[in-house]
Amino acid sequence: MIYSRIAGTGSYLPDKVVTNADLEKIVDTTDEWIRERSGIHQRHVAADDETTCDLAEHAARRAIEAAGVEAGSIDLIVLATTTPDLVFPSTACLLQERLGIHDCAAFDIQAVCTGFVYALSVADKFVRTGAARCALVVGAETFTRIIDWSDRKTCVLFGDGAGAVIVEAADAPGVLSTHLHADGRYADLLLVPAGVSKDYQKLRGHGAFVRMEGNQLFKVAVNTLSGIVEEALTANGIGIDAVDWLIPHQANKRIIAATARKLGLSDERIIVTVAEHGNTSAASIPLALDVAVRDGRVKRGQLLLLEAFGGGLTWGAALVRY
Ligand code: COA
Repeated sequence: MIYSRIAGTGSYLPDKVVTNADLEKIVDTTDEWIRERSGIHQRHVAADDETTCDLAEHAARRAIEAAGVEAGSIDLIVLATTTPDLVFPSTACLLQERLGIHDCAAFDIQAVCTGFVYALSVADKFVRTGAARCALVVGAETFTRIIDWSDRKTCVLFGDGAGAVIVEAADAPGVLSTHLHADGRYADLLLVPAGVSKDYQKLRGHGAFVRMEGNQLFKVAVNTLSGIVEEALTANGIGIDAVDWLIPHQANKRIIAATARKLGLSDERIIVTVAEHGNTSAASIPLALDVAVRDGRVKRGQLLLLEAFGGGLTWGAALVRY
């Protein structure tokens, strides 16, 4: 029996930090409102000449180093992003070239903020079936590029960053199970209402930006997240007490707290980085994971529960023995 395990993690945040005080200067908002409603204090924003692939490369190199593998042994790259460098080739292919890897399968996954959980699930299945032995899984975003900086309802929430993991074949279970869902009926709650094949002109010159029904999304998020956590626990025949760390998508402190309350989970067992990172979409979970691995909270052998929701709507969870 082949299993998959996370062999190493890495992450990267662009240098530029935008604080709530900075945002007070460009939209009608206050530091107090942003902290109270979202828990966000600051976010990192990519430089004008810095792309998603740049952020992904830094995170990937750190994960490769942490895992102690040679880049040449990577035989699959799965990269989750909503903000690819180009329409094509995929950012995964651009990253492959940067890392000097040739020949292996490389592709992007688009599931917005659930992207990393989707990507991890796909890599896990490749490894378990023997189709790959060493996968690089990345969540990377320059999400602030699709933000309308004059819309106070959205611009205060998002940030840029990247996180990566190496998923290796193993004799004992690491990734225990993954659970993916989507429901396109809720597409209108969070979207960029233009793309390559629809309203392309909006993308040229005028920009096409995130629109969000924050209130409705909040309620759907709390319900779907507690549901997906229960699904993952039930599938593995365990209770929430068995989980060492919940590593949620970092959208909003209040969503994380409401989900934890529903699950009966105390704050001390949740990794929260939303205050410093904001919502970095597909990058948020691998970023939070890497922060907690490097500061020593997450240790080998511990049970981690990752959960996310995002545009689509999509949502998913992964139970991982680290
Ligand atoms: N600064 C100050 N006031 C703001 C503001 C800002 N940045 N953004 C909105 N407001 C105002 C609204 O205009 C509204 O004013 P009104 O009552 O005069 O109309 C008021 O604050 C309350 O807005 P509301 O949307 O009800 O606030 P909220 O408590 O629901 O918080 C969110 C807003 C966006 C923080 C919250 O709904 C949320 O987190 N939703 C989920 C978003 C999310 O996670 N998206 C990503 C999914 S992956």
